[in-house]
Amino acid sequence: MRDDVRLELPVVLVGPMGAGKSRVGQRLAASVGAPFIDTDARIVERYGPIEQIFDREGEEYFRIVEREIVAEALREEAVVSLGGGAVLHPDTRDDLASLPVVWLRVSAEAVAPRLAGSNRPLIASGGIAAWTAIQEARTPIYASLADFDIDTSRRSVARIVEDITEQLGGTR
Ligand code: S3P
Repeated sequence: MRDDVRLELPVVLVGPMGAGKSRVGQRLAASVGAPFIDTDARIVERYGPIEQIFDREGEEYFRIVEREIVAEALREEAVVSLGGGAVLHPDTRDDLASLPVVWLRVSAEAVAPRLAGSNRPLIASGGIAAWTAIQEARTPIYASLADFDIDTSRRSVARIVEDITEQLGGTR
């Protein structure tokens, strides 16, 4: 753990499926000694597997549940990784306007092996083509919310964490 950095919390990680939000968030939190919250994991804890929620109740219901969890997480002093589509909710976009937001990007080429074997409902049938269409549609939203972006395609998690820490000006 680094005791020479202190970040304004929460710090929020956004970006498409497979960009590394959970892995990076976990490592960033450990590095600065902050709690880590993965909103997808909280949804699963409280409501069960995400693919089951999509299957039984549909995406609209999932977004309502997700918003509840995200609103709660953003009130905590933590590093928070949001599910890729959490930014679709207008109230979440409002919340993020006043928080430090990091956009993790990734190329389709680099993400393809990361998503292999994934059970994410939105790409279950469309694969990488579906991923590309979704991430292109959401790019303007991520861009409007983020303080800066980092391409995770070829960087190690350690390097990404260093870059985020530096960009957030966490040195005291
Ligand atoms: C989704 C992304 C997933 C998860 C759900 C929907 C999306 O999270 O919340 O499958 O709409 O992009 P990750 O971005 O962590 O994969």
